Amino acid sequence: MQAITFRGIRDLVCSEVPEPQLLDPRDVIVAVHLTAICGSDLHPYRGSETGLDVGTIFGHEFLGEVLEVGAEVANFAAGDRVVAPFTTNCGSCWYCEQGLTARCESSQLFGWVQDGQGLHGAQAERVRVPHADATLMRVPHGARDEEALFAGDVLSTGAFVTELAEVRAGSSVAVLGAGPVGLMASIAAREAGAQLVYVLDSVPERLALAEGFGATGLDYTLATTRERILDETGGRGVDGVLECVGSPGATRLAFDLVRFGGTVAAAGVHTEDTFAFSPVEAYDKNLTYRAGRCSARRLMEKTLPLVAGRRFDLASIISHRLPLSEGPDAYRLFDERQEGCTKVLLLPNA
Ligand SMILES: NC(=O)c1ccc[n+]([C@@H]2O[C@H](COP(=O)([O-])OP(=O)(O)OC[C@H]3O[C@@H](n4cnc5c(N)ncnc54)[C@H](O)[C@@H]3O)[C@@H](O)[C@H]2O)c1
Ligand SMILES: [Zn+2]
Ligand SMILES: [Zn+2]
Repeated sequence: MQAITFRGIRDLVCSEVPEPQLLDPRDVIVAVHLTAICGSDLHPYRGSETGLDVGTIFGHEFLGEVLEVGAEVANFAAGDRVVAPFTTNCGSCWYCEQGLTARCESSQLFGWVQDGQGLHGAQAERVRVPHADATLMRVPHGARDEEALFAGDVLSTGAFVTELAEVRAGSSVAVLGAGPVGLMASIAAREAGAQLVYVLDSVPERLALAEGFGATGLDYTLATTRERILDETGGRGVDGVLECVGSPGATRLAFDLVRFGGTVAAAGVHTEDTFAFSPVEAYDKNLTYRAGRCSARRLMEKTLPLVAGRRFDLASIISHRLPLSEGPDAYRLFDERQEGCTKVLLLPNA
């Protein structure tokens, strides 16, 4: 089958690879209809996250049709339309029972193979899904495939970071980053009742998308942006910052924008090993800082019904729909934010 594999930094190729096989009776093989490129894929692509084996199939956002099921799979059968969270989970360990499915004791991230261990990704014609009964979800009636795809990662991550920041009715919120995660976070914050939702980025077309979802788009590179947010929040700063970037600059900006006693919730994946604010600064601000990988499988119970309700034009963030063979070029566009590239869907079985 065809798949996008890793050869090195900024060096991906779409080529013939072996078919995935059922390796465990709880596995399912899914024919991938839609797969997307995520901001998280950019970390190994750019080399800011290291360790990935050459030959690893990229990609962790996918929706498709069940092709083959292992002998112990009870909930799915060939032909079912399914969507997966970006990590697998067993459904029965202590963490799964707490709803921290991202930290399931046997969790694997699609598209991460290191030293021969791990799970290949979904930017391919077919993908193997371990612990399929607990991992996969059926695409609900009424949901559009392209939007249901987002429940597996960016929409659920937006809901997750909103939950981490304890956004509630009347909250003021600054979302850092108007990439797919930040845009979805702005929707989730409004759904949670936030009154003021600022989305900060420097890319005009991304800020325009944020405005389309009802947020106030602001260029974070302008000095007036911070003044405006302070002005409109009684000089205090926002109750919560949803950091959807993953850089020291964004962490520092989050710290500067949050009020005393507020919360910075970080969905951005960080690779630095020090904080952009000091312990004394955190103390002096009575700061709460929360972070981590989204338990997408748990959040999908909320976000898939939201998708099926069709109240938001989530597909408006999709800038490119391309065949799998154009995946390597699509990574370049997404990496360099060329051609208004915001979200790329790849269609392996088109
Ligand atoms: N926690 C999780 O489980 C989880 C899940 C999915 C994605 N992520 C992470 O979320 C982050 C965002 O993902 P994405 O797909 O939206 O990525 P993206 O790269 O498309 O978007 C990031 C945006 O941040 C903007 N930006 C850069 N520096 C900024 C700053 N200082 N202030 C404000 N905006 C700034 C960029 O212009 C860009 O538009 C990535 O780090 C990704 O790895 C985490
Ligand atoms: Zn992702
Ligand atoms: Zn588990």
